[in-house]
Amino acid sequence: MSAIWEVFAQDEDGAWRFDGVDVAGLAEDFSTPLYVYSLAAIRRNIAAYHAHGHARRALLHYAVKANSNLALLAEMARQGLGFDIVSGGELARVLAAGGAAERVVFSGVAKTDAEIDAALDAGIGCFNVESAEELDIIAQRAARKGVVAPFAIRVNPNVDAKTHPYISTGLKDNKFGVNLADVAGLYEQAQHHPALRAVGISCHIGSQIVALEPFAEAMDGLLVLVDALLAKGITLQYVDMGGGLGVETDSQPQVAQAGALCKMLLDKLGERPLALHLQPGRSLVGNAGALLARVVLTKEQNGKRFVMLDAGMNDYMRPALYQVRPSMRNLSRAEQGGRVDVVGPVCESTDMFARDYPLDARRGDIVAIAGAGAYGASMGNTYNSRALPAEVLVADGKARLIRRRQVLDSIWQDELC
Ligand code: LLP
Repeated sequence: MSAIWEVFAQDEDGAWRFDGVDVAGLAEDFSTPLYVYSLAAIRRNIAAYHAHGHARRALLHYAVKANSNLALLAEMARQGLGFDIVSGGELARVLAAGGAAERVVFSGVAKTDAEIDAALDAGIGCFNVESAEELDIIAQRAARKGVVAPFAIRVNPNVDAKTHPYISTGLKDNKFGVNLADVAGLYEQAQHHPALRAVGISCHIGSQIVALEPFAEAMDGLLVLVDALLAKGITLQYVDMGGGLGVETDSQPQVAQAGALCKMLLDKLGERPLALHLQPGRSLVGNAGALLARVVLTKEQNGKRFVMLDAGMNDYMRPALYQVRPSMRNLSRAEQGGRVDVVGPVCESTDMFARDYPLDARRGDIVAIAGAGAYGASMGNTYNSRALPAEVLVADGKARLIRRRQVLDSIWQDELC
C-alpha cells in the first residue's frame, strides 16, 4: 500500500482506524460521503519542507485552492504559513480564517478590478502579476487609492513539468505567466512607478510533479533573470518557486521529497541575499485526507459487476476530470475480491471512480478513497442537486466536524421564482 494509506491503520480484529479514530464510527456519526483529514499528517507534511538540514528555510504560502476549509486555513496560519490565493473569494476566506493579509500572495491570470481593489484595501503581501496589462491595471488602481502595490512577475519559464496536460502551467503555450524574454522589461518599466514596488519574482510550473529536475530547470531560468536584474540595479527580496510537488499514488510510488526540493532550491540560491518562497498545496494536504463513501448497492450486468457508491463526481471530481485512478479500499471486509467498476450515483457516464478495480463490496460497506485531501472538497459542486459532503478533522484521537453536510435547500436558496 502506498503512502497515502499511512493515515489508516487496522486493529487486530480487522476494524479500520483513521488517525486513531474508528472509521465505522465516523461514518455512523457523520454519515457519508464524508471527507476526513488528519491534523497530525498535515503537520508532518509541513515539517517535511523544513527537514533538509539547510541553514535557511523556505517560507511557505499554502495554496488555498487545494483545500480551503476554514479550519485548515486557521491551522496553516497557526503553523506560520502565508497563503497563495487566486480570487477575491479566497482572500475573504483567508481573512475569515484569521490569516494575515500581509502574508498573502495573489496569483491568477485575470484578477478583476474588484479583486485587485479588495487586495489593495486588505494590504496583501504581493500580487503575482501574469501579464503587462495586469501590471498596468494594478498600478493604476493602486495610484488611484494612493497606495503602493507590492508585486512579483510570474515568469513562464517554458519548462516541461512532465505532468498531466490539464495541470501543467509552465509551458510557453499555457496561459500562465510572462515569457522569460519579456520579464526584465516589466521590472524596468515598474522601477520608477510610484505606485509599484517589486518585491520578488515567481513561477509555478504545474502540479503533481514527481521529480526535482523540472523545478531545478525553472530555478536556473529564474536565477539568470534575478542576476540580470541585479546588474541593472533592480533588487528583489525573494524567489517564489510556486507549488506543484506531487504526492505518492499507487501508480506513482516514487515522488521527490519536500526536504530535498527545498535543499536543492536553497543550494541554487546560494549566497544571494534572497529568500526562497514556495506555494505548496497538494503536498501539504493530499495524503492527509480521505473520502469515505458507503456502497448503496451493487449490480451485475453483461458480465460486469458495478459497485455503486453514495459519493459521486460532484463530491470528488479528479477521476472524471483527469482520468486519475484513485486508490480505494473496502474497509468493511478483508477480501477485496474480483474486478469491479466503482461508480457514483451522478447521471453521467464519467461518474466513474475506476474501471476493473480489485474491490468487492456489498450494500452498506464503507469504501475509503485515499489521498483525497487535496482538490477534493474544494472542487466539489452540487451537480444533480446533491448536497456537499460534511468534513471532519481528526486531531489527538478525536473527530471534529469542520463543515456541516450542506442543508439541501441551501443549494437553491439564491434562486428566484
Ligand atoms: N501556486 C499556483 C500559482 C498554482 O496555480 C497552484 C496550483 C499551486 C500553487 C499549488 O499547486 P500544488 O502544490 O497543489 O500542486 N485541480 C488539479 C490541480 C490544479 C492545480 C492548479 N494550481 C488537481 O486536482 O490535480
